[in-house]
Amino acid sequence: MSYSVTFIPGDGIGPEVVEASKRVLDASGVEFEWSEAAAGQIAMDELGDPLPEATLEAVRSSDATLKGPTATSKGSGFRSVNVALRQQLCLYANYRPARSIPGIKTRYDDVDLIVVRENTEGLYSGLEHEIIPGVVESLRIITAKASERIARFAFETAVRQGRKRVTCVHKANILKLSDGLFLDSCFKIAKEFPQIEVDDCIVDAAAMKLVSNPHDFDVLVMENLFGDILSDLTSGLVGGLGVTPSANVGDGMAVFEAVHGTAPDIAGKGIANPTALILSGVLMLRYLGEKEAADRVQEAVGAALADEKTRTGDLGGQATSQQYTDCVVARLEK
Ligand code: NAI
Repeated sequence: MSYSVTFIPGDGIGPEVVEASKRVLDASGVEFEWSEAAAGQIAMDELGDPLPEATLEAVRSSDATLKGPTATSKGSGFRSVNVALRQQLCLYANYRPARSIPGIKTRYDDVDLIVVRENTEGLYSGLEHEIIPGVVESLRIITAKASERIARFAFETAVRQGRKRVTCVHKANILKLSDGLFLDSCFKIAKEFPQIEVDDCIVDAAAMKLVSNPHDFDVLVMENLFGDILSDLTSGLVGGLGVTPSANVGDGMAVFEAVHGTAPDIAGKGIANPTALILSGVLMLRYLGEKEAADRVQEAVGAALADEKTRTGDLGGQATSQQYTDCVVARLEK
């Protein structure tokens, strides 16, 4: 069986890490029919549209999509391709596991938690306007429908993965209406999953507790902006942006991408760490039901990272992206 997978090279280090990840996935023994689609600054420059309709259609019609990071300028310029992609295709759940990697030295061992981020609303709704010069307003949309949908995704994930607890992260003490609704929605859905514990934590306290005792958490569910920020924090707990994967999941559609961005400071130098996107590929293999191949790729990555000589610079090593990828592929082909 062969899977049709769209790949989006994206900008900056995107093409480098996408190529490396495709090589690893091809070496996993699973057959892929790859087709390329454009998005980001490169699509803007070449096609006059950062997110062409053909790309949306390719994502809709393929079994899964592997996406490189895409650039978004600060302040002016086109809207984020990521936000648009997630909203237009209703990829409502952003799944971001943070798991310690043996051999990678961080402050804590055995971190193993999952951030589930609502992906379609909150402050990312794109509803911003200037009321009068010097005064702007950004609308933070929270709906019961999207809050219940993301809560259900978090509880279903907890059940599927044998997890014990879901923590709803919010700011309902201040944002009484919007986060009050989000919190109520989580507790309403929790009743459908009596086997999973539920609790809640105010977002600022959650940030402090995550850095002081990450082992206290299991699955965390939160709205869009809190999830964006706290998932970068949890990425820092397990080795940084170079090793943290993610999945954007909707009904019958999914886009797999690293948590990191285009890393313009190292683009084109051949030193980017492709691990985050390779591990996003592992999430893709699991999504496609290819558990055995997913386990093998994960083990090969773990083995390559265990050896300091084959690590890239962000993890204290000196290997190039290619040397590291060669090592992962060689372990898979053994
Ligand atoms: P960034 O994640 O691109 O870079 C932050 C730091 O981490 C840099 O020092 C970079 O060199 C390093 N880094 C990131 N990924 C790495 C990797 N794989 N290997 C080694 N080092 C790595 O974040 P930044 O600089 O804030 O954003 C740059 C651009 O990326 C912006 O235009 C932003 O909008 C975009 N972005 C895109 C995302 C996506 O497409 N999913 C996600 C986050 C940012």
